[in-house]
Amino acid sequence: MIKHSIVETAFEKKSECLLVALFAEPSAASSKEGKSSSGTQSGKASPRRAAEDSNSSKAAPLSGVAAELDSQLNGLLSDLASSGEASPEPGSTCLVRTAGVQSSGDGEIPARIILVGVGAPSDISVQTFIKIAQGAASAALACKATDITDAWTAAVVDQLSDHSPSDNQTLSLNHGDSTRIEPADCFAQALLAYDAAVYRFNEFKTTSAEKLPKLKKVVFVSPDNDELSGQALRKSLKTAAALAAGMTVTKNLGNAPGNVCTPRYLADQAEALARDYKHIECEILDEKAIRKLNMGAFLSVSKGSDEPPRIIAMRYMGAKSGDEAHVLVGKGITFDTGGISIKPGLGMDEMKYDMCGAASVMGVMKALAELQPAINVVGVIAAAENMPSARASKPGDIVTTMSGQTVEILNTDAEGRLVLCDTLTWIKKFKPASVVDIATLTGACIVALGHETSALLSKDDELAQALLAAGQRSGDRSWRLPLWDVYQPQIDSPFADIQNIGSKGAGTITAACFLSRFTKDYRWAHLDVAGTAWVTGAKKAATGRPVPQLLNYLLAQA
Ligand code: BES
Ligand code: MN
Ligand code: ZN
Repeated sequence: MIKHSIVETAFEKKSECLLVALFAEPSAASSKEGKSSSGTQSGKASPRRAAEDSNSSKAAPLSGVAAELDSQLNGLLSDLASSGEASPEPGSTCLVRTAGVQSSGDGEIPARIILVGVGAPSDISVQTFIKIAQGAASAALACKATDITDAWTAAVVDQLSDHSPSDNQTLSLNHGDSTRIEPADCFAQALLAYDAAVYRFNEFKTTSAEKLPKLKKVVFVSPDNDELSGQALRKSLKTAAALAAGMTVTKNLGNAPGNVCTPRYLADQAEALARDYKHIECEILDEKAIRKLNMGAFLSVSKGSDEPPRIIAMRYMGAKSGDEAHVLVGKGITFDTGGISIKPGLGMDEMKYDMCGAASVMGVMKALAELQPAINVVGVIAAAENMPSARASKPGDIVTTMSGQTVEILNTDAEGRLVLCDTLTWIKKFKPASVVDIATLTGACIVALGHETSALLSKDDELAQALLAAGQRSGDRSWRLPLWDVYQPQIDSPFADIQNIGSKGAGTITAACFLSRFTKDYRWAHLDVAGTAWVTGAKKAATGRPVPQLLNYLLAQA
């Protein structure tokens, strides 16, 4: 974890590296529309030099800290900007080593300066800011500094145009791509980017080929922006630090292999969390307790495995004990082979990530425990391993759920909904104010939305809106799919009340339809994070999503 502090001016505290902003000219290609294509726009733009790449924007004159440094360095920085060596494009960076360079003033010059391209000074979107912050963070890592001073974030915040916070309430239907970032969120996103950049999962390496990142501390320069008080800035950074800690928990659990991260391991981690934080209590149901509750669907998944299942409930009580609790339910399939409907071998290792919903619940609980907001939250995990064996469920088997409804299991690989449906019935006992389940539920979700966006399904417009807004504000976005009744007949079974797969198409929706038959007694939304919870392929790694969205949502309810 990166430590952070706040200073008034960039030169107050000496760091090994100082990051300053490089803005683009407002009229350049990085304006809202991207490439300037309309006649009026190209007419307005200043005539470009022929040598200039038509896609890259022109640097604006240096200002603020960057300008101060530049004059001490006899124009070195502005030379880099005008030559194009330093680009003002969001996400690009340029490292300047100043060893041996004579200062023209009496101020001390940091050994390294990074020019951070931040685009044109205007209303900057959450996604663009994240891109800039990721660029800045990887440059900070590459220069091997152990401590840095971040002056570019304050420079960006000072350029954000005034707008009332209520403006952002209208972002609910965001078909465009332009959710403006709030001043305080800039600092939060910057800290999150530095934290994400230094994250490594080396627990199982005995020789570390790669040198660990050196970066340990970030000093933020505070902005002049009137919209952001010092108190709000500190609060935002505190929230970001808690969020980063929660995301690290989520990533570590997700990245852990299936032979380590079992249902019992998840239960142990929950108990450890409850030991570490007095605001967290933990209750664990073992196989016997689960059987006693008549969770026939849940047990139909775990019975093919030698690993016993667990249902884990973590309670965070930050409000009055009588107040209703918001409930999160995470799919915790610690490995999904598909069962008898076995998956193909290629890439099956990634099914260790099939507990990322559960891991996100654990991450949120960690962040809540750190922050202690005035809210009650119950985080529940449905943990089991899905294996083929002589004792495993078979296609065609019919089981009785805790709700009394019967389910025909047509495909043992549609197991997530089977563990979730009984868990969603059990959590009624918490009399929830709202319920959000988080699951790597369907491959169809990746077909629909890829790896950028989670799927959100709910019949409750208000709840859906709150979750969508939380996703947009935190840059951890979801998109709503319909949960209309016309899809329901697809999961009617000829032999039981419900079958566990649909007949054709809309796999993410029919999966949510299945869950909807068990969630009628409370306000409920479903998040399918099959595409967003981890990065797939050679660089596979858990992302920590959707912890930012969930935490943002819960804090808005406090
Ligand atoms: N855990 C998978 C979904 C999944 C697949 C997530 C790939 C991320 C990447 C889930 O249990 C599953 O196997 N779903 C099936 C459902 C089908 C049998 C109706 C699927 O999506 O193929
Ligand atoms: Mn499956
Ligand atoms: Zn699964």
